[in-house]
Amino acid sequence: MLAPREHWGSRVGVILAAAGSAVGLGNIWKFPYLAGQHGGAAFLITYLALAFTIGISVMLCEFIIGRAARKDPIGAFAKLKGGLWPIVGFMGIAAAFAILSYYSVVGGWTLAYILKMMTGVLVNGTSQELGKVFSNFIENPVRPIIFHAAFMTLTIAVVIGGIGRGIERWCKILLPALFVIILILLGRSLTLPGAMKGIEYFLQPDFSKMNAAAFNAALSQAFFSLSIGMGAMITYGSYLDRTMNLPTSTIWTTSLDTSIAFLAGLVILPAVFAFGFDPNAGPGLTFITLPAVFANMPGGVVFAPLFFVLLAIAALTSAVSLLEVVVTYLVDEKGVSRRTAAWGSGAVMFLIGIPASLSLGVWKDYTIFGKGIFDFLDYLSSNLLLPLGGIFIALFVGWFFSEKALEEATAGGKHRFPVARIWMFICKFIAPLAIAWILISGL
Ligand code: PHE
Repeated sequence: MLAPREHWGSRVGVILAAAGSAVGLGNIWKFPYLAGQHGGAAFLITYLALAFTIGISVMLCEFIIGRAARKDPIGAFAKLKGGLWPIVGFMGIAAAFAILSYYSVVGGWTLAYILKMMTGVLVNGTSQELGKVFSNFIENPVRPIIFHAAFMTLTIAVVIGGIGRGIERWCKILLPALFVIILILLGRSLTLPGAMKGIEYFLQPDFSKMNAAAFNAALSQAFFSLSIGMGAMITYGSYLDRTMNLPTSTIWTTSLDTSIAFLAGLVILPAVFAFGFDPNAGPGLTFITLPAVFANMPGGVVFAPLFFVLLAIAALTSAVSLLEVVVTYLVDEKGVSRRTAAWGSGAVMFLIGIPASLSLGVWKDYTIFGKGIFDFLDYLSSNLLLPLGGIFIALFVGWFFSEKALEEATAGGKHRFPVARIWMFICKFIAPLAIAWILISGL
């Protein structure tokens, strides 16, 4: 006898779990440095425009596919349509492996940095010294891998607890904690003398910076940050009960994710400007520039570890959703137990993460298509697999599942869905064409 499928305990619980998946390193680590690289406000506007048209529409498609099929991404496409469609689910599983293996490496850095900040190593460091601390750490062949293992183990532990008692329970505790921490940091950052310059940079658009590269970066970032295009939201949707209002849940999830990215930008950029650092520092912005900012800031010894706790929490609730995609697949399709599935797939991802971590140090010279392994995994997933998955998910719902999708979205006419026709139009035409255009222009 099969046990009945698990489901989420409450409406708030699901939204926090979905938002927990969305809010992650993408919001706090990637978003501020991408905004810093692509002209601040110009990037913010492009990002918002894409997230609230294409992003939000694809997310709704995913919830619908998941809830209609009550299955993992591959099984869902097989059940709803068959043919070649399960390949879309397969791409999603591949993306989960690609993302979580390097994501967990960065998750490990956040754990290591909590300890570093608490032991005061960084107090009074200059950004140059802190740059050395960071590169020495990530280039070390052993230490980051130990933290990568610790982070993956935490992820596995939460997933083994299951949907309600693992993921939902932890997200309900961790996400509000994250929100409080970010507000505290915001208060600190905005009251720094000189913060105004950063606020201007972030909020006053320079439209000359809105080029193809910025569009491409904003689109990839929207997919990555909203956790869409690879089946995470199909998976979470498959545990939803029939009465949930899907359009409103989608709006909640997208808005929470976007607000946290916005707030992270408002914490980081003003602090960077206040101390005269370069907003264009790239991936190091969070791990080098920010500790230097904390070192120069009254109360920094308290705020620095707090910040990395925030980052670790955000990373964990996202990592959990990536692992859950694979675990749900193994449980649904292969009849593996949740525990075995979580340990087994987590172990494989851990192993793929090892060369990714080494590629930042001793294996720097090995490249795939001109990129190190770490950068290749990031590029492959955010710039190719997720947008490509998004095209097919939108096409599927728009052209092959539209009537049932509308019925599923409104729970058979029970919920109002005033923008249904706009949404359908986006799925049929705008999303596939715009994504394809941005993808091609980015190559
Ligand atoms: N959305 C997460 C972040 O912003 C990453 C993620 C991508 C999680 C895809 C699940 C699926 O960090």
